Amino acid sequence: MKIIIINGPNLNLLGKREPEVYGSDTFEDYFSKLQFKFKEIELEYFQSNIEGELISKIQETGFTYDGIVLNAAAYTHTSVGIADAIKAVETPVVEVHISNTHKREEFRHVSYISPVAIGVILGFGLKSYDLAIESLKN
Ligand code: DQA
Repeated sequence: MKIIIINGPNLNLLGKREPEVYGSDTFEDYFSKLQFKFKEIELEYFQSNIEGELISKIQETGFTYDGIVLNAAAYTHTSVGIADAIKAVETPVVEVHISNTHKREEFRHVSYISPVAIGVILGFGLKSYDLAIESLKN
């Protein structure tokens, strides 16, 4: 089984960025733990701050991988392009957020990704990714 985690803008700063919201672990450290936990899964990780690169990665993996775990970060709330890419591919996409976006500013309550994702996991910190992988496994 092949799963890719795709992270959007500013998620390369995890560990440094607003630790009270996003925690103090880097994603690289957490990713190693995921690889250790899900040894039977071929796990890949991609991050970009650029919307078009996220779209290209969805297109590139969206016909051959078994699952995409996507945290589109701020683009969640704005990107018709990413939503269209998810609609265009065959691989199921699970939308993930570290924070509970519904507890935050109103503009974060809107997601262009949710209507095209197979499911949404949010608010469990980095564990949201773990839960998303579990959901794709089953
Ligand atoms: C986020 C929530 C978004 O609103 C925000 O723009 C992010 C991170 C999360 O994982 O909680 O960058 O997607």
